[in-house]
Amino acid sequence: MTKTRLRPPPAQETIYTPETAPSPFTKDGVIVVNKKHPLPAGYNHGEDAEAAAGLRELISNAQANGVHLIGSWSGFRDFATQTTLYANYVAANGKVAADTFSARPGYSEHQSGLAFDVKDSSGNLYRIDDANYNYASDWVAQNAWKFGFVVRYLDAWQPITGYEGEPWHLRYLGVDLAKKVFDSGQPLEQYLSVSGGDYY
Ligand code: DAL
Ligand code: ZN
Repeated sequence: MTKTRLRPPPAQETIYTPETAPSPFTKDGVIVVNKKHPLPAGYNHGEDAEAAAGLRELISNAQANGVHLIGSWSGFRDFATQTTLYANYVAANGKVAADTFSARPGYSEHQSGLAFDVKDSSGNLYRIDDANYNYASDWVAQNAWKFGFVVRYLDAWQPITGYEGEPWHLRYLGVDLAKKVFDSGQPLEQYLSVSGGDYY
């Protein structure tokens, strides 16, 4: 079987692994973590305080608008935690399926301290009630920018983000940038013109 040649990275993007990455990959000062851009294995920023404050505000406002998010979330993970999580998903679902919804260790945005999975009143990951899975009608997707967040993974963006849609996964960018990214209608990779999609 012939192996497809990997496309070279765009100019100014070097291929790193969690073991070789010297620092988080940034573009225009924004940390980007995806299947092309791992964090250093030892990166241990913890939960970002400004982001967590924004998240608390988002949750209060969601509740006031009838969206039943709870005040706890899945946020920062270190390399060891992501290693265990991913290994469990691979054991349960196989590697091909796991790669569509779980990041390999080093490649999770959760390791940046800037990503949070919000939960519904049953403690499950937040989902869209709408049978058509319609992000356009979803309060969280439409209002997250007001608190500095974007919904990072939509089904339509899978070729660019590398993951299936996750209505619960919010990435903190600060209000100004979150508004710009939201208004652009693009995933973060496209907005910043950085590479995304599958692993190298
Ligand atoms: N579920 C997301 C892609 C993660 O594992 O970071
Ligand atoms: Zn997440």
